Amino acid sequence: MEIVNYFDKTFELFLSSYQLDEIVKTLAEDINKQYENVQEDIILVGILNGSFVFISDLVRKLSFEFEVEFAKLKSYDGTESTGDIDIVLDVPVSIEGKHIIIIEDIVDTGLTIEEFINNVKRKNPLSVKTCTLLSKPEVHNDIIDIDFVGLEISPEFVIGYGLDINGLGRQLSGVYRLVT
Ligand code: XMP
Ligand code: MG
Repeated sequence: MEIVNYFDKTFELFLSSYQLDEIVKTLAEDINKQYENVQEDIILVGILNGSFVFISDLVRKLSFEFEVEFAKLKSYDGTESTGDIDIVLDVPVSIEGKHIIIIEDIVDTGLTIEEFINNVKRKNPLSVKTCTLLSKPEVHNDIIDIDFVGLEISPEFVIGYGLDINGLGRQLSGVYRLVT
């Protein structure tokens, strides 16, 4: 499927499932190298809803032991970041003394991940690192330091592979970009 339509908008294929698999493989190799000799507990915290597809592929490529938890944050309305971040559901377990890897689908303004990093750091984890499938560096001007980035993209709106437009399009196996 090269073109999909949601509401009155048209999206074209940007990253195929094959390309996504390669990106996730490379990310997993990087993460494996950094955590293979870690002795303490590790928790991957996926940020819902967008990261659920990415994290399900990523975890099956990691070669160390870890727990998986989720937090739910909300900032987007349609195709615009609102800048107003709500932690709708916080991580339901203690993260004190554990290594935390935050998993995001996409970093746009960086406000969501920044808010969540600060929230996690207040709970005395042993370490906090961040991983995102996609990043829009021209929007956040690299103010936010992400440890593992799958792919940097230009500031365009994308859906699919977990990413949505008003809740729809998450099931698409590729990533599609808005045709303007
Ligand atoms: P910020 O601006 O806080 O945004 O870095 C991060 C959150 O906003 C969502 N987001 C998008 N969702 N296509 C989407 O479907 C996009 O192009 C996009 N850009 C940002 C996403 O949920 C992310 O967690
Ligand atoms: Mg998200």
